[in-house]
Amino acid sequence: MTRNDNGPVAGINVRGATLYRGFLTPADQAGMVEVLRRVVAEAPLFSPETRWGRKMSVRMTSAGRYGWFSDRRGYRYIERHPSGTPWPAIPDPVHEIWRALVPEARPPDCCLVNLYGEGAKMGLHQDRDEADFSQPVVSISLGDEALFRIGTTERSGKTESVWLKSGDVLVLGGAARLAFHGIDRVRTGSSSLLRDGGRINLTLRVVD
Ligand code: SIN
Ligand code: MN
Repeated sequence: MTRNDNGPVAGINVRGATLYRGFLTPADQAGMVEVLRRVVAEAPLFSPETRWGRKMSVRMTSAGRYGWFSDRRGYRYIERHPSGTPWPAIPDPVHEIWRALVPEARPPDCCLVNLYGEGAKMGLHQDRDEADFSQPVVSISLGDEALFRIGTTERSGKTESVWLKSGDVLVLGGAARLAFHGIDRVRTGSSSLLRDGGRINLTLRVVD
């Protein structure tokens, strides 16, 4: 990662979350896509079902000790890919971003990889399947721009929307750790980073 050689970067406050615009250079982004291709080769993408039995529009996989999973039994972390193999290790460049932005936090033990194709979105939700909410969530955007919405810790709270672009990194910590958030839509074709188009979001979390 080259960006941090230039010294500390300033974040923008979005309802308590901190947005680091263009944290990853185009070269960093291309390198990240390469390492993610290896993750996806080991742990193929799948579309989980929600607890209400609907297939999610986002395809996903994970790296790390735990992977996030969902089916009719609910949301949870599991220690193996649905195929039965352990999740691949979290790639070094991903750990570097975590260390650069949240050096005081414990290392992440899950890197969720979300792939948004045409029409994919993510409903408003809280990240609350983890044991320790004092640990932040770090979210990396690659590829097409996405309209991200963030509110308060109440589902009905006032929300604010911001377009997340390729190379942006968002930190949900402190009071924003449990803020409701989601992706309303993706601007298809707005980035040429991914060969087949679309958007990747990496969500890093401490699970235990
Ligand atoms: C998520 O909250 O799980 C994903 C957010 C995003 O795609 O930016
Ligand atoms: Mn989330």
